[in-house]
Amino acid sequence: TTEQNVLFTIFGGTGDLAKRKLYPSLYRLYKKGIIKEQFAVIGTARREWTDDHYREIIIETIKDLIVSEEDAIEFASHFYYQSHNVNDSEHYVSLKVLAEKLEARYHIKGNRLHYLAMSPDFFGTITQQLNEQGLVSDTGFNRLIIEKPFGHDYETANILNEQIREVFDENQIFRIDHYLGKEMVQNISTVRFANNMIESMWNNRYIDNIQITLSEALGVEERGGYYDKSGALRDMVQNHILQVVSLLAMEPPAKLSDIDIRNEKIKALRAVRVFTPEEVKENFVRAQYDVGSNDDILLNKYQNELNVAEDSLTETFVAGKILIDTFRWKGVPFYIRTGKRLSEKGTQINIVFKNVPLNLFSEDAEEKLPSNVLTIFIQPTEGISLQINTKKTGIDLETETFDLMHQHSAETLANSPEAYEKLIFDCLNGDATNFTHWDEVASSWRFVDAIRKVWDQDKTNLPSYPSGSMGPAESDALLAKDGFYWYWNP
Ligand code: BG6
Repeated sequence: TTEQNVLFTIFGGTGDLAKRKLYPSLYRLYKKGIIKEQFAVIGTARREWTDDHYREIIIETIKDLIVSEEDAIEFASHFYYQSHNVNDSEHYVSLKVLAEKLEARYHIKGNRLHYLAMSPDFFGTITQQLNEQGLVSDTGFNRLIIEKPFGHDYETANILNEQIREVFDENQIFRIDHYLGKEMVQNISTVRFANNMIESMWNNRYIDNIQITLSEALGVEERGGYYDKSGALRDMVQNHILQVVSLLAMEPPAKLSDIDIRNEKIKALRAVRVFTPEEVKENFVRAQYDVGSNDDILLNKYQNELNVAEDSLTETFVAGKILIDTFRWKGVPFYIRTGKRLSEKGTQINIVFKNVPLNLFSEDAEEKLPSNVLTIFIQPTEGISLQINTKKTGIDLETETFDLMHQHSAETLANSPEAYEKLIFDCLNGDATNFTHWDEVASSWRFVDAIRKVWDQDKTNLPSYPSGSMGPAESDALLAKDGFYWYWNP
């Protein structure tokens, strides 16, 4: 590892994301020597803080990771705070003065990473001001990391993109989707392209259907204000789920470079069928959590959550069938589901293979044997398993189904880098593989907008599900219509 020299400016420096994810990730990179002496961080937000207070906060956020007190203090000494009103040009002028001072002090050669960890309402203003007040340096790199949500629909995303693109080129923009920083999401390409047995069967001749579940046990907690305007479709499907779909569906890239991979993902997302209103009704269901219980704890309904409208029609659960009209995937449904207040927290992908043509192990040759299922466990379990049928020990010829399973050990999990750490590292290296390209964002919104439009017009029909369950009956019915059911590998 070579040391990177860079000035970070974090907009939203007092926020939850900065404290929970960014500062600990920077500390981890510091421990690895990726940032060391030639770096500085400017934190900005509205609040009036002193550098000393800011550094105390920094140390607080990394307290579980600290090995030596001295080293934590040294790390924190690279942090500077400046209070800032995003609409006030004067403030950008003082930011520039500080940036130049720090670059001189730490011998930073004009490499600037601008991190927007705050409300997207300000992304346009901030990038414009960065440009106008001369905060984009002439030497070194200038990169922009932006957090989700990227727009509220295609139109707002497009406006936002045009504003940003006036200042930064596509290859300077790093749109975060933290799922792309997860170890097992990154593993999808390895599992596919490093195994001939798997890749040669990765198509509609052998695969029956693909199922993706992103299940959460928590409710909306303190984020009711944001969530009630967003809903599960925008919050999880537009970004995380469609990103996972694109990695599963893309054609093999010529090389594992960011350009090649993103080109293939873009092609896959463009091939996702944008549904007509009739198709939306047939292929997508939504629901909202009602009262219920989990582990004997009674749980409130969504409409009673903080900052949620009492008559809210916002969905907290989505299940749907995605169709990709390509040679490879024609006829293979990608079933997806996600929801809050489900029975457990867990993300997994199940690839369900087609059955053998005849069942030789039953009187009735038409009776279905259990399918081969390849499970990719994303979280909290990380691993991979293959369900296969074998002979049961004994004098009769009976079949038995079991899992060939590999699970990352607790030690591996404890030592593996955090998603944000990897993504910031990639950005420092200018590697955009695990960030979303504008064309991916655009295709995803077009798909989501078609569904949203139908749902926004239908004010009557919002099923509910008990908190602590795996969603509404409508979700099971969606697969049952096609003769399938949801796999959940415990
Ligand atoms: C975020 C959503 O993008 O992802 C949250 O806004 C959701 O609503 C979260 O809880 C899930 O991420 P993870 O990493 O906990 O699965």
